[in-house]
Amino acid sequence: MRRPLVVGNWKMNGRLGEAEELARAITSAEIDWDRVGVGVCPPFPLIERVAGAVSGSPVAWGGQNLHAEDSGAFTGEVHGPLLRDLGCTYVIVGHSERRGYFAETNEDVAAKFEAAHRNDLVPILCVGETEEERDAGRAEPVVRAQMEAVLDLAEDPFAGAVVAYEPVWAIGTGRTATPEQAQEMHALIRSLVGDRQPQTAQTLPLLYGGSVKSANAAELMPQADVDGALVGGACLKADEFQAILKAAAQAGAGA
Ligand code: 13P
Repeated sequence: MRRPLVVGNWKMNGRLGEAEELARAITSAEIDWDRVGVGVCPPFPLIERVAGAVSGSPVAWGGQNLHAEDSGAFTGEVHGPLLRDLGCTYVIVGHSERRGYFAETNEDVAAKFEAAHRNDLVPILCVGETEEERDAGRAEPVVRAQMEAVLDLAEDPFAGAVVAYEPVWAIGTGRTATPEQAQEMHALIRSLVGDRQPQTAQTLPLLYGGSVKSANAAELMPQADVDGALVGGACLKADEFQAILKAAAQAGAGA
């Protein structure tokens, strides 16, 4: 039995004047909070404000990235121990925008995943293929390689972690994977973990990400291996995000 989890990735959005209001609005969602876990990942300088706005509520917070090292001369980077100091529960690693725009390789992402665990942060590992890769029939091997880079780190690296399947062609495009496409890839991801650690695979939360909104959440969330969502654009609108939380909570109630 897996409790649904919905995490909002604010990406490079949000200003000082609006962050608290958005964060507070999330806490006022009229949902059964026992049935869904909720997290928000704002830009680094907003974490403390957002934490102040949601602390005492069931909403957790996290970072969108971290450096693989715990300290040092890495100008402009943010370290895991600092995210921990800020009370973060989660940290996103390997988002396709980091892989694509900042040239993060599977090995870089694996090192960040390890840094998250080392600092008692729950890594949300993002995997997913590009449109070109899907069209070439390579979605499976691409996601397999992304998963294996982390699986090879340790005996049971996904214990206490989260995976988000985010097909790159669905991110910010308004084009969502069909519930069947999402389910197919989620089942693959769970089986890759299950081949090594069956127990961990059963409890591992697998989020879908890519143009999730209120209009499609109710279809995606009930899929057998879809345990929630990693939401970009729609998490910046309180009513949209609340509706997604509601769909996830309902799917949890039906599980
Ligand atoms: P969108 O919901 O804007 O497509 O973004 C998804 C995403 O990248 C979440 O990490």
